[in-house]
Amino acid sequence: MNLTLKVWRQKNSNTPGRFETYQARNVIPDMSFLEMLDVVNEELLARGEDPIAFDSDCREGICGMCSLVINGVPHGGHRGTASCQLHMRHFKDGDSITLEPWRAAAFPIVKDLMVDRSAFDRIIQAGGYIDAPTGAAQDANAILVPKERAELAFEAAACIGCGACVAACPNAAAMLFTSAKISHLGLLPQGQPRRSHRALGMVAQMDAEGFGGCTNHGECEGACPKQIRMHFIARLNRDLVTASLWRPKLAGPLHTLAEI
Ligand code: SF4
Ligand code: FES
Repeated sequence: MNLTLKVWRQKNSNTPGRFETYQARNVIPDMSFLEMLDVVNEELLARGEDPIAFDSDCREGICGMCSLVINGVPHGGHRGTASCQLHMRHFKDGDSITLEPWRAAAFPIVKDLMVDRSAFDRIIQAGGYIDAPTGAAQDANAILVPKERAELAFEAAACIGCGACVAACPNAAAMLFTSAKISHLGLLPQGQPRRSHRALGMVAQMDAEGFGGCTNHGECEGACPKQIRMHFIARLNRDLVTASLWRPKLAGPLHTLAEI
């Protein structure tokens, strides 16, 4: 296949960006989308031009690094598929494909199609962990977890932190990501000791990073490569209200776990 790529090129977050057009020739349908970009970059390097910067790591849909808006849709719009798992067989010879980075104020552009997602790391640092002693591996069976809760926790834990939910949301909200991280710990016995602190701390950090608020558009769920469902946002809101009601002195504009 021969394709036309319209790619967002931007030197850094302080420089204006623009679309540049490139030809991708002799693309094999079995190539992954990122392999196709690798080939385009090899041609650019051979011509002495600056290669297109894009993020990737595992290329297996598990690390959350890949982050392409393909034809206006984060990860390309194939249900449950990260950019790195998308194959060129989904396109036709002669297609024109537009490539952009995640667009959100809390994810500043590093270069071209790469954005800085360290805001997500800071949300995790604000409470997305447990500090209860969990014992050795054999102790895992000592506390029984009902099957339904275990499966829900697994579903939430599948979030790879890619940020497509933010990119898809018209408010650039990080509610789906934060709710998945809050829920996967809050559903398990080991996650109970700091459940209130977790909800208050992570939501405060989410707000401090400049993410928008959820207004139930549902675009996040549609774009999520791990098909995380929006009912986790309801769980987040429940945890947040409960934490605020039961611990009134913890409510308010909290920005770090230390302040809590
Ligand atoms: S909820 Fe889905 S889209 Fe959002 S960061 Fe997690 S895996 Fe990515
Ligand atoms: S490169 Fe790891 S999820 Fe896509």
